[in-house]
Amino acid sequence: MVIFKKIADLQKYLSTQTEQKNTIGFVPTMGALHNGHRSLVEKARADGNVVVCSIFVNPTQFNDKSDFEKYPVSIEKDIEILIEAGCDVLFLPSVNEIYPDGTEKVQTFDFGYLDTILEGEKRPGHFRGVGQVVGRLLDIVDPQYLYLGQKDYQQCMVIRRLIEIKGKQPQIQLVICPIIREADGLAMSSRNRRLTEPQRAIACTLYQCLVSIQSKQNSGSFDVARKECIDLLNEKGFVPDYVALADARDLTVLNNYDQNRPMIALVAARIGEIRLIDNLLLN
Ligand code: PAJ
Repeated sequence: MVIFKKIADLQKYLSTQTEQKNTIGFVPTMGALHNGHRSLVEKARADGNVVVCSIFVNPTQFNDKSDFEKYPVSIEKDIEILIEAGCDVLFLPSVNEIYPDGTEKVQTFDFGYLDTILEGEKRPGHFRGVGQVVGRLLDIVDPQYLYLGQKDYQQCMVIRRLIEIKGKQPQIQLVICPIIREADGLAMSSRNRRLTEPQRAIACTLYQCLVSIQSKQNSGSFDVARKECIDLLNEKGFVPDYVALADARDLTVLNNYDQNRPMIALVAARIGEIRLIDNLLLN
């Protein structure tokens, strides 16, 4: 695996790859890699791409300063994981390399409705930052395939819109990969490392909520299922942000189950300082 810190060096290398008619598969990350990230790299590899992974803890997408400051960093371990997973290129830029004119002058995008619901509502400015950095990274790497995890489903929708707005369709194909979970159902996340042992033991409650919502889709009302989830989360000591049901195509929030649509259940809750999110496609 080759590592580049500078855009110019990365692009020089990638141009030799495109000259040889190789396709570029891109996996953007913020590091502290786990098996979820690994699955994206492996998929990009299995699809026959030259695999480029970026590790950049993007300061502009953290609406909570302490979340940014405490974001786990484990670069040496990350490099090992990437080599094992078959990554060809690691792009490891500095903040200055990504935002040479500061963060204020970077192009921003309007995601409309998508930025007003769920994560957009609870984390103001978050998707603005995601749009900034992914827009920049796509310009730099110029991939044919972009690999994202369903774990951040709303982020996938936002980036799909970003690709449309930037007029990069159909040059860039978005590949959404399934959520990788721990044995008890907890969705893997870099933030899980910050959970204490007792917090870790109950963190799978989010997944349990999603499964119970799924199991009631043919019989019950979503309102009742949601209330049961909120009560369970509160009982276990979480502060729930939302338990929601939406149309999986465009994230139109639904008040009740509707088998005529593809549905997704989404949950976000805080336990102590840590905010966890998860989702499940229902039908
Ligand atoms: P990060 O949280 O590091 O995630 C990088 C990619 O890994 C995202 O596409 C995310 O959805 C995926 N991922 C995380 N956990 C996963 C899991 N358990 N199973 C499958 N995929 C998983 O998302 C970001 O970074 C940033 O917002 C980024 C897009 C890099 C922009 O800064």
